[in-house]
Amino acid sequence: MEYITLNNGIRMPQEGFGVFQVRDKEECKRSVLDAIRAGYRLIDTAASYTNEDAVGEAIREAIAEGLCTREELFITSKMWVQDMQNEQMAAAAIDASLKNLGLEYLDLYLLHQAMRDYFSAWRAMEKAYRAGKIRAIGVSNFYSHTLTNFCETVEIRPAVNQVELHPYYTQEAALETMKYYGVQPEAWAPLGGGRYKPFENEMLAGIASAHGKTIGQVVLRWNVQRGVVVIPKSTHKERIEENYDIWDFSLTDEEMKQISSLDMGYQGTAIKHFDPDFVRMCTGRKIHD
Ligand SMILES: NC(=O)c1ccc[n+]([C@@H]2O[C@H](COP(=O)([O-])OP(=O)(O)OC[C@H]3O[C@@H](n4cnc5c(N)ncnc54)[C@H](OP(=O)(O)O)[C@@H]3O)[C@@H](O)[C@H]2O)c1
Repeated sequence: MEYITLNNGIRMPQEGFGVFQVRDKEECKRSVLDAIRAGYRLIDTAASYTNEDAVGEAIREAIAEGLCTREELFITSKMWVQDMQNEQMAAAAIDASLKNLGLEYLDLYLLHQAMRDYFSAWRAMEKAYRAGKIRAIGVSNFYSHTLTNFCETVEIRPAVNQVELHPYYTQEAALETMKYYGVQPEAWAPLGGGRYKPFENEMLAGIASAHGKTIGQVVLRWNVQRGVVVIPKSTHKERIEENYDIWDFSLTDEEMKQISSLDMGYQGTAIKHFDPDFVRMCTGRKIHD
């Protein structure tokens, strides 16, 4: 596994473990422990996944078992839209995530969506960063025009932008914008999020067999070779291990191009961020009173 140095100098693992939709607490805790045992050090959760407490339990257990130290872990969570209404609410959300996780500091905290008053929320993030509660602050689902306006305005530029990135939605132009502003791209749904049937694709199968790897490993490797951080999710131990075993082979330039040719553009997005109904769904979603 390799590390990326973020724009504030801190090191981030280039592969991590995601826990979206792992709502059962015991399953979440067991999966995170399986991931840490397999070698993952980055864990990606969010206030809106309502499993920060289970992730926190797994972290404490892993440290108690001597699997890793807190310093070796890179824990990410995200502020939900409900809390992005003013600076006070945003500051309270950061403290709530820390409390739910049982941590003294977060390695990375992200604004989950470019919705509501994300500038006020960012000022709370900057304060928490300066106070040492968060080692790096970033955003998620910020499309290029929004990210550009944001980077041209804020005091501290985001260290990371976590967006949908997989062979069916390659977002090359968005990666260029992130590079321009020194923002590290991180892929959500790096395996396609259970959509698009990559595991049945013949071209991907051919590349996988040429390397003695699985399709999942090839798809993850493709993003890694583009300089992207990947955070695949699985609740199956053998898949968790398989997804981490991507650091001993390289795709050729030609294979990289072939994989990128699957791109469907905006048609390939799982979540239509430009759809007003989706925005209303997010602004209406409450995760606490
Ligand atoms: N910022 C955001 O808005 C946002 C949005 C979505 C996700 N995320 C983050 O990104 C992480 C990853 O995204 P994701 O969970 O949506 O999708 P993903 O990691 O691309 O795909 C997960 C799906 O693939 C299956 N899978 C995993 N490994 C596999 C393998 N080796 N072979 C075959 N199938 C495999 C999983 O099933 P099993 O679990 O049954 O193995 C699950 O159905 C999330 O967990 C979350 O942390 C962030």
